Amino acid sequence: MIVTVDGPAASGKGTLARRLAKHLGLPHLDTGLLYRGVGYLMLEAGLPLDDAAAAARAAQSLDLSKIDQEKLRFDEIGEAASKVAAIPGVRAALLKLQQDFARQPGGAVLDGRDAGTVIAPEADVKLFVTATREERARRRFRELQDRGEAAVFEAVLADIKTRDGRDSERSIAPLKPAPDAVLLDTTRLDIEAAFRAALSIVEAPRAGRTRS
Ligand code: DC
Repeated sequence: MIVTVDGPAASGKGTLARRLAKHLGLPHLDTGLLYRGVGYLMLEAGLPLDDAAAAARAAQSLDLSKIDQEKLRFDEIGEAASKVAAIPGVRAALLKLQQDFARQPGGAVLDGRDAGTVIAPEADVKLFVTATREERARRRFRELQDRGEAAVFEAVLADIKTRDGRDSERSIAPLKPAPDAVLLDTTRLDIEAAFRAALSIVEAPRAGRTRS
């Protein structure tokens, strides 16, 4: 079974995808990490993020096992990821790897922005996870505080707004729900309630609907 979990920054899609994968016994791919890896390599090399040729080369040679994943969590890297993700050569270089992951025997859970629209349009279940911008900013703000990082709520909110705009308005593989995605608004749900809601959506087709 292939399950895709797409949604905007700080919607909770990563946590949900990880928990679903664990529950279902399926491998999980956080596709955002790939774009973060490319952004990180560009920043490390001191290259401008709009250098399309260099970014595509970085994507082609990306080996996430060689990058300390802790370094990829910072907002500065998320911002760089969002910029290089708009470059067609970067997306093309990362496509096959993601499709192979989705199509492995037994299936997989993938989370990102275009998992259900571009990577695995054939997925059995597609979730599109949302929450209001203010709630997502609150969650990200709390996360930063918990990590001991200095943060200003208004700045976090502004960053989320910028990222939403860039991810949704780019011409290639923009963030949008697949026509057959099920929307899950987590604004008023805690992690546990969101997981239960996600699981009931995932289990619904098994109980009734058959794959066409
Ligand atoms: O999910 P995330 O915050 O780790 O993703 C970082 C950026 O990477 C996001 O702002 C846009 C880009 N991205 C993408 O374009 N397509 C994906 N499938 C996943 C992430």
